[in-house]
Amino acid sequence: MCGIVGYAGPKDCVDILLDTLSKLEYRGYDSAGIAVFDDGDIKVVKHQGKLAYLIELLKKEGRPRGNVGIGHTRWATHGEPSDINSHPQSGKRVSIVHNGIIENYAQIKEFLIDKGYTFESQTDTETVAKLLDYYYDGDDPLNTVSRALRDIRGSYALGIIFKDYPDKIYAVRKDSPLIVGVGKGENYIASDMTALLEYTRQYILLEENEIAAISAGTISIRNIYGDPVDKQVLTADWDADAAQKGGYEHFMLKEIHEQPTAIKTTIMPRVSDGMVDFSECGLDDKKLSSYKNIYIVACGTAMHAGVVGKYVIEQLARTKVIVDMASEFRYRNPLIEKGDLVILISQSGETADTKEALNISKRLGADTLALVNVKGSSIARDADMVMYTHAGPEISVASTKAFTVQISMMYMFAFKLAYAKGLIDTDTYKDYVAKLIGIPDKIEAALDESYVSQAQHAASNVTAAQSLLYIGRGFDYALSMEGSLKLKEISYIHSEAYAAGELKHGPIALISQDTPVIAVATQRSLYEKTLSNIKEVKARGAKVILICSDGFAVKDDEADYVVRTPDYDEFLMPIIASVPLQLIAYYTSVLKGIDVDKPRNLAKSVTVE
Ligand code: AGP
Repeated sequence: MCGIVGYAGPKDCVDILLDTLSKLEYRGYDSAGIAVFDDGDIKVVKHQGKLAYLIELLKKEGRPRGNVGIGHTRWATHGEPSDINSHPQSGKRVSIVHNGIIENYAQIKEFLIDKGYTFESQTDTETVAKLLDYYYDGDDPLNTVSRALRDIRGSYALGIIFKDYPDKIYAVRKDSPLIVGVGKGENYIASDMTALLEYTRQYILLEENEIAAISAGTISIRNIYGDPVDKQVLTADWDADAAQKGGYEHFMLKEIHEQPTAIKTTIMPRVSDGMVDFSECGLDDKKLSSYKNIYIVACGTAMHAGVVGKYVIEQLARTKVIVDMASEFRYRNPLIEKGDLVILISQSGETADTKEALNISKRLGADTLALVNVKGSSIARDADMVMYTHAGPEISVASTKAFTVQISMMYMFAFKLAYAKGLIDTDTYKDYVAKLIGIPDKIEAALDESYVSQAQHAASNVTAAQSLLYIGRGFDYALSMEGSLKLKEISYIHSEAYAAGELKHGPIALISQDTPVIAVATQRSLYEKTLSNIKEVKARGAKVILICSDGFAVKDDEADYVVRTPDYDEFLMPIIASVPLQLIAYYTSVLKGIDVDKPRNLAKSVTVE
């Protein structure tokens, strides 16, 4: 996803633009650029590839001198990564940076070509720059921006500078995130606060189509009709270090180790008198038990958390839970109706497919609950109810701590709903909650070197694989999906999660000599069945890595490698068993020398379809 920054103040802005862009590299990008007011003109310098190439170019060609400018890291959507397709994109009197997709850019481009405009790039963004040029007649840029927005369909976060207004930056967003950073005698724009933490902790969240005009000493915000809008100044509650690596080699390893704290800070505020308290969003027992069906709609890892949630909620609370990937849900004409609850799980709160699933669910009359990690994110703001996970900023593209806090919340849900429906008594309820409260310590134990080294050893036996299978039954099948995704996205090794009982219906044909198979077995009640599947694949030459807890007695011929976790109530084992799955993927990626935190082709938040 693209990164946007901007600075207006007394200082030379180039270093600030480059530094704040560097803090957004985690979002994934393939080119970078800046536009700076320099001696009455707008100077644009941009380059394909990493930020380092832009810095090199600035050294070689000389850098603009100015104290107002905008910057961008581009994650290509329209037009391949190239210098000319990099942002900023410009018109005669305006330069802009953009995050999002302009859906009707082709029609706008055609209209402007008829008006005599020419285009250099293949981007949708260039049409916005020239549309602004077209409407700009020297009057207030705010009116120009408002007029242009009325023609645009799609998602955008825009940073805009007009040549005639060298002290100002304009910013507006729809669907893509954008904030205004509030400084002392200097102000900023950025895609998120991670970019600005070293400069200011005060920020304003722009709502849909609110247009900000910032200069060194002023911030004014109006709606698309030109009416002034009063905005609250918020304070970022995490420190700069929290958004940095804290001594770990990668953000991913740091975030894996942050899981005990992340789970604790997420669940503890919602425990009252030993029971689950969701009063923050008005979900009392009566309302919760009134829902006929619960849908969980999300993408990627968040969807896998939903699958674990389905198993847990259905097993304990006996309410039907339908899990759907948002990209399918949105085109399925879903059978959602009033009286249903739709839970949208999203770490970033900006995932385009999940946002659209939210819109559809609301249109169909369901109650919607957002379970998101980023405060004030679009999904959080647009849902009927919101519950925040408190995992802190998750920088690594591969989601880890967000996943375990999401499934921890699924357990909270299951306990509360089962009790609300009278399916468990108070003692059982409090016992389950107490066990969940014990999970952070168990995760801490699972991160002890004695366990981590087993995952590292297993990883060394996976790195050479072309493809491998993850298998499991019940909860362990849901976990296998997440383990497989982790491995794929950061080691580039193909893998597939399969219900262990399905192997004989086809996938076992994939097994040949030394094919690695990662078997997840945390449920004693299903272990014998999984063991028979393990024997089936071992008989055909597979190398089996078994993930189970200390309590399992495993004979030497039952697995080639065993990766253990601390023992615990098996109903809650999915949270603990997530750790070895994360570590196996992490160490495989490290052993393959891959950029763990910024894997190829991926972005931290997919704000486009
Ligand atoms: C997970 O490791 C991936 N980064 C990806 O699947 C992610 O979970 C998915 O894009 C959903 O993101 P969200 O939670 O921010 O909505």
